[in-house]
Amino acid sequence: MTEEPKQKADEKVANEVQSSRRAVLKGMLNVTGALSLGGILYGAYQFLSPGAGAVASVEIPLESIRNGGSTVFQFGTSPGILLRREDGSFKAFSLVCTHLACTVQWNPEKKTFFCPCHDGFFDEEGKVISGPPPGPLEALKVEVKGNQVLVGAG
Ligand code: FES
Repeated sequence: MTEEPKQKADEKVANEVQSSRRAVLKGMLNVTGALSLGGILYGAYQFLSPGAGAVASVEIPLESIRNGGSTVFQFGTSPGILLRREDGSFKAFSLVCTHLACTVQWNPEKKTFFCPCHDGFFDEEGKVISGPPPGPLEALKVEVKGNQVLVGAG
């Protein structure tokens, strides 16, 4: 084989290898793009689907909370509180402050919620009394079924 045909053969092989590398790289980019798109679409589905982010109801035994008492529970990833009024009625709230999401504390003597982060105060209905919170505490739905109190998203 003379030098010129050998050089052309080498160039042809080099072009084929380069073309093959491009195909592999293009395939990898397509797979990465498809995975990214899949992740975005799955996230959008999770966000938009009915019941997205829904937290199952919490069951609290009726006899575990006396009139005028309260009990704290975990509601999904956040703390919540169930209050039983003197008349036996119930109210439940998320204990997540609506300002910057600190945990508020219930003061049964003053019947107020206090947020220690920036001195936010809420009344027993969860409404803002003073401080920087922009809105009331999230009220949770309460339902008494038999000897259980079910607390869920309102
Ligand atoms: S986080 Fe509650 S007052 Fe700022």
